[in-house]
Formats: sequence, C-alpha cells, structure tokens
Amino acid sequence: MADTDVLILAIESSCDETAAAVVKNGTEVLSNVIASQIDLHTLYGGVVPELASRKHIEKINQVIEEALDEAGVTLDDITAVGVTYGPGLVGALLVGVAEAKAIAYAKRLPLVGVHHIEGHICANYIENPDLEPPFLCLVVSGGHTHLVRVLDYGTYEILGRARDDAAGEAFDKVARAIGLGYPGGPKIEKAALSGDPDAIPFPRAKISDNPYDFSFSGVKTAVLNYINGCSMKQEEIVPEDIAASFQKAVVDVLVDHTMQAAEEFEVPELAIAGGVAANGALREAMRNACEKRGIRLYHPSPVLCTDNAAMIGTAAYYEYLAGTRHGWDLNAIPNLKLGER
Ligand code: KG4
Ligand code: ZN
Repeated sequence: MADTDVLILAIESSCDETAAAVVKNGTEVLSNVIASQIDLHTLYGGVVPELASRKHIEKINQVIEEALDEAGVTLDDITAVGVTYGPGLVGALLVGVAEAKAIAYAKRLPLVGVHHIEGHICANYIENPDLEPPFLCLVVSGGHTHLVRVLDYGTYEILGRARDDAAGEAFDKVARAIGLGYPGGPKIEKAALSGDPDAIPFPRAKISDNPYDFSFSGVKTAVLNYINGCSMKQEEIVPEDIAASFQKAVVDVLVDHTMQAAEEFEVPELAIAGGVAANGALREAMRNACEKRGIRLYHPSPVLCTDNAAMIGTAAYYEYLAGTRHGWDLNAIPNLKLGER
C-alpha cells in the first residue's frame, strides 16, 4: 500500500442489506460484503423497518470484520470511514451511522457521510474508469426515481423525480398483486421472460408540467384493476403476461423521459443506477435507444446496482477528496436531499 493510497471503509445500512466494503482510491474494490435480509422480510411480503434495524445490529460487526479480512487490511490501514446517513429507514440508517462514528472516533479517522443515491450514481465509476462528469444519470431504486444531471463529482441537478411510487416500489407492489412475492423486481423480470409484453395495454403516464417527472401509481392501479376485472369475469389471469406488459410499460416511460432529457441537454454519455438498473429489459431498451442516438451507455454490474457498500466507498472517496468531513454529531437523515451536506 502506497502512502498516498486512500483506503475507505464504507458502511451501508439504509434499508434491508447490511453491507461493508473496503475501497482503494475510489474505484478499486478490495472487498464488498453484503448480508441480505431478504429471507427475513419475505415472511411479511416487504421490509419491516423494526426488524431491519434489529438485524443490522446483529450483523454489522461481523460484516465489517469480513470486509476488512477479505481486503487483507486492518483498521490501522484505513484512511477514512464512509457511511450512508440518508435517505432511508431511520432506525436502519442509525445502526450504520453509530457504527461508523464509533470506529472513526476510536481510530481517530475522518468521518464522511454519504447520500445513498450519490452512492448509486457513483457505482458507475467502479467498472467504467473512462466515465467522468458531466453525464446524465437515471437512478431507479426501490425508494427513488431520479433523472439527474451529474455536473461534477458531488454536484447534481435533479431534472425529474417520481411524483408517487418509485419504479422499484411499483415492481414490488405489482409482484405482490400477482403472487410473485418479495422482492418483486427480479421476480417480475423472470416471469416476464415467458410472457407477452403486448398482451395488456397498461398506461404510460406523462406529467404535463414537467416532462422529466415520473408517475408509476397509475400503471400499478391499472394492473390491480385488470386483476379485479378478470376475477369478476371469472377469467384466469396469466401472471407472465401481466409481468411482461407491466415491465414494458415502466421501461417505455423510463427510456422515453431519459431520451427526451438526453436530447435536450445533448449529452454524449448516460448512466443508469439503482436496483431497477439491474433489469435486463431496461438495460436492453436503454442500449437500443442510446445506440440510435450515438449516446454512450454505462451501467454497473447487477451486484453493484442493488444496495452495497462498495458504491458508498466510491462516493465517500470523491467526497473525501472534496474535503467533506462530518462531526461526531452526524445523524441519520431519512429524507436527506441529494446534494445536501
Ligand atoms: O437500489 P435498491 O437495491 O434499494 C433502494 O435503494 O431502494 O433497489 C431495490 C429495488 C427493489 O424495488 C427491487 O424490486 C428492484 O430494485 N429491483 C429490480 C430488479 N432487481 C432489483 N427491479 C426490476 N428488475 C430487477 N432485476
Ligand atoms: Zn439503494
């Protein structure tokens, strides 16, 4: 390890994954450990916040130890501690924040709080060393749908956002309605492979006062109404057709809004991020749309799309370089806005 190397220990606990990673110089991921709580929450059909917090407490020390071991380093080698402090579930975030503060205080290390969505965006830098701001980024996760201009490291302009359900949330709710269970995104994607995307004409919502905002509650309600309609007519539903038609409706809107922004701002480079960016249909549709316009498309590999701490380590690195340091009063901020410090 060179003296000039910056080694970040990163911690992520904003929702249902307890994660820790060691990241060298921003993009070299030495370890990326994720303890998923999927099995626990599957029993209830979705994330139960109180259970998530308790599980984080149980797992966090073990996950951090594993991350250090796998990276072959100790806390004495670490330059700074990065941690997600918002947005997310307050009780879940608090576990990571308290842990990061304790480690940073005990080892006299700088503490760098990270915005979870900034982490998702920064996941793109890990495997794409030639990607640099400015670029346009579509962030599609369970809690957020943001169309963002990344003007510089740490400087963002939000062009549009979800007015109601986030894209991932709509996937999860529709999956539950057609009996696929939690988490819905990957299950819808799988079912859609054997369904007809043109079987049911679900709506594509446009927001009249901002072409870059999104609304997915309409398509979700249309799916629920369709299912109720079938049941009243005693017609059997074909879950695969519903999954494929719903997925197509969401993907169409995501691609359409993003391309409109790409054209207006004449961006040569576009990135996608967040759990829904792992979706093969979205990736393919985005790739086709970008190819037609000569835009270069970037996306993280699936494990870096869904929640992980490596992306928090990358975001913390750029924040660290920019001089961001948080004090011992750092608190969890469940509704933290992108770009706030
Ligand atoms: O980014 P993420 O891991 O957590 C949040 O920050 O919310 O995103 C989780 C969301 C869930 O709603 C999940 O259903 C969705 O991402 N998701 C997917 C896929 N994998 C995860 N949605 C569609 N297709 C997928 N393959
Ligand atoms: Zn996330």
